[in-house]
Amino acid sequence: MHTATEERLIRPARNIFGSLRLPGDKSISHRYGMLAAFAEGVSRFSNFSTGADCASTLACMTQLGASVERKGDGLVEITGIGGHVGQPGAPLDCGNSGSTMRMLSGLLAAQSGEFTLVGDASLSRRPMERIRRPLEAMGARISLTEGHAPITIHGGPLKPIDFTTPVPSAQVKTCILLAGLQTPGVTTVREAIRTRDHSELALRAFGARLERNLDAGLNAVSITGSQTGTETGAQTLKAIDAAVPGDISSAAFFLCAAALFPGSQLLLEGLGLNPTRATLLDALTALGVRIAVLNLEEKHAELVGTVQVTAPENGLGGTEISGSLAAQLIDELPVLAAIAPWSRGGIRIRDAKELRVKESDRIALTVRNLRAMGAEVTEHEDGMDVPGGQQLHGATIDSGGDHRIAMAFSVTALRATGDTLIQGAESAAISFPEFFDLLDFVAER
Ligand code: S3P
Repeated sequence: MHTATEERLIRPARNIFGSLRLPGDKSISHRYGMLAAFAEGVSRFSNFSTGADCASTLACMTQLGASVERKGDGLVEITGIGGHVGQPGAPLDCGNSGSTMRMLSGLLAAQSGEFTLVGDASLSRRPMERIRRPLEAMGARISLTEGHAPITIHGGPLKPIDFTTPVPSAQVKTCILLAGLQTPGVTTVREAIRTRDHSELALRAFGARLERNLDAGLNAVSITGSQTGTETGAQTLKAIDAAVPGDISSAAFFLCAAALFPGSQLLLEGLGLNPTRATLLDALTALGVRIAVLNLEEKHAELVGTVQVTAPENGLGGTEISGSLAAQLIDELPVLAAIAPWSRGGIRIRDAKELRVKESDRIALTVRNLRAMGAEVTEHEDGMDVPGGQQLHGATIDSGGDHRIAMAFSVTALRATGDTLIQGAESAAISFPEFFDLLDFVAER
């Protein structure tokens, strides 16, 4: 059971105005951190994620033999283990991080030995069958606890597979690719809906060879692996230096906050704009927000740019998010739902059942908290309907210890009548410890 430890009072704002540079993307930091720790040599990253989730990845990799030095100001230096994982003396603690647990399971399945991965109460409720199935098909033995963590991995030499993911999940895709990296032969992952491709880009940046086929209906990624230590040089990852782009999923809270206030203006510099992550910009455009992208560049194949947003003077329109859009916007749906009452046409969300198995049941919590603020909302098994044209009042919000719920309702609170109390506000630090300070910085009161 989660116990709320910190409450935050959010006062209404008049407008959102300013310019920000956000800490590094969580998804990219996990991957750079994990691959650098597994690679040969010393990698250096600037603007590495400051969130607790990525710290969990680094702590696990340290237990496996890598060395990690935080040099301050977002600089992280990682000395890798050159593909040879050490036996940890204790279970690997993934904290609240599904990415750490699922991706690391793939990396470890191909290593000889027994590894136990544990997580906090929320992570211990999340589905892990989705990684057990492909890893067992490759020959690893994976023991779950009623489909969940703790996970015990009996790893060793694997055989390649051709696997189609049953749910769109970049974590599952990455899990299989990291096992495939260390498995002789061609391992292929296919997905019906294209998920974020940071692993593919990061693996290439670290020197791995992989093939992508994006045309054939099912997006396919193939990696030709080699067993660690058997074919010297083949698929050995090599250290890199990189700047992590600003996190667009953290930016989502500020973009949506700006969208709430007619005439607001916000500039976000150095933001990650990978097309598999930037769907939010399309959703906001569909709602009538004006978005300009400036200074676009590519860093290790990740797009980075400056985003300028201006909210429409006549308020937001309405939109529907379903099908592949729902999968691509999965982390941004709570905050989009939370601003929907102030749109004219409302927001209808479908095909987002995965929201129920995130850090919390995000459909249930979003609906409950919107209702606490006086909103009319209809809950569906795979989404919700939030009608537009509603004015909400301040309320006590139960974040359920879920960072994205805490931040989404802090945004809604800016337009509510009266103050809002966010319970479990400390959870924002899972992805974005600076969130409340930066929100205060751009919110004009
Ligand atoms: C992530 C993938 C998504 C996303 C999560 C981060 C990643 O999860 O919701 O916040 O970094 O690969 P799924 O793989 O479960 O869809």
